Amino acid sequence: MKKILVLNGSPRKDGIVYNLLKEIANGSKESNEIEWIDVYNLKMKPCIACMKCRPNNECVLPKDDAHIVGEKIQKSDVLIVGTPTYWGNMSSQLKVLFERNVPVFMGESDSGMPIAKQKGKTAVIVVSCSTPWPFNFIAAESRGAMKAIKEVLHYGGYKIVGKIVKSGTKTNRNISEKMLDKARKIGAKL
Ligand SMILES: Cc1cc2nc3c(=O)[nH]c(=O)nc-3n(C[C@H](O)[C@H](O)[C@H](O)COP(=O)(O)O)c2cc1C
Repeated sequence: MKKILVLNGSPRKDGIVYNLLKEIANGSKESNEIEWIDVYNLKMKPCIACMKCRPNNECVLPKDDAHIVGEKIQKSDVLIVGTPTYWGNMSSQLKVLFERNVPVFMGESDSGMPIAKQKGKTAVIVVSCSTPWPFNFIAAESRGAMKAIKEVLHYGGYKIVGKIVKSGTKTNRNISEKMLDKARKIGAKL
């Protein structure tokens, strides 16, 4: 039994990211314990770049939802992260959550070298964007969002065991049966 934490970085309930995340979670729920966080419901202040979390190992802002989710990330074995592409990046609220939780993902040696804090854990990434294939990749639309999430997970020491990209959502919001099946299979392997 693994503890799985789902971070839904889309504000749209019943959107593309939401439905793909649900499918992965449903695929994995037989044998695992799943917690779902709608990141846009969190009440949290943005990072103020005081850098005190580096020596303190914890954000020094007054306790809010970013601290609470940070604790959940530490206690979970698997992260399933989903985001729509916003300006070629992850959504703003998800980025705030990750910026507030730098010390959860990585430490720094005295010389400033990164130290992975969640080594050995696994992760899945889901991204959607309105730009159609292949421009979502060439122009770094969904590719930009994917890269940004990978950056966080990479420094955390996660192994990425599944990725789903749904592009072209402006003209086609239908999630194909093939993609839903891929989501379920990723979930079943967690
Ligand atoms: C603020 C904002 C910025 C966006 N920026 C991009 C972008 O840079 N590239 C892109 O292809 N789509 C962009 N989109 C479109 C969303 O990525 C797209 O509608 C996505 O599929 C929504 O997914 P969801 O239904 O899961 O929320 C943007 C949408 C919003 C609201």
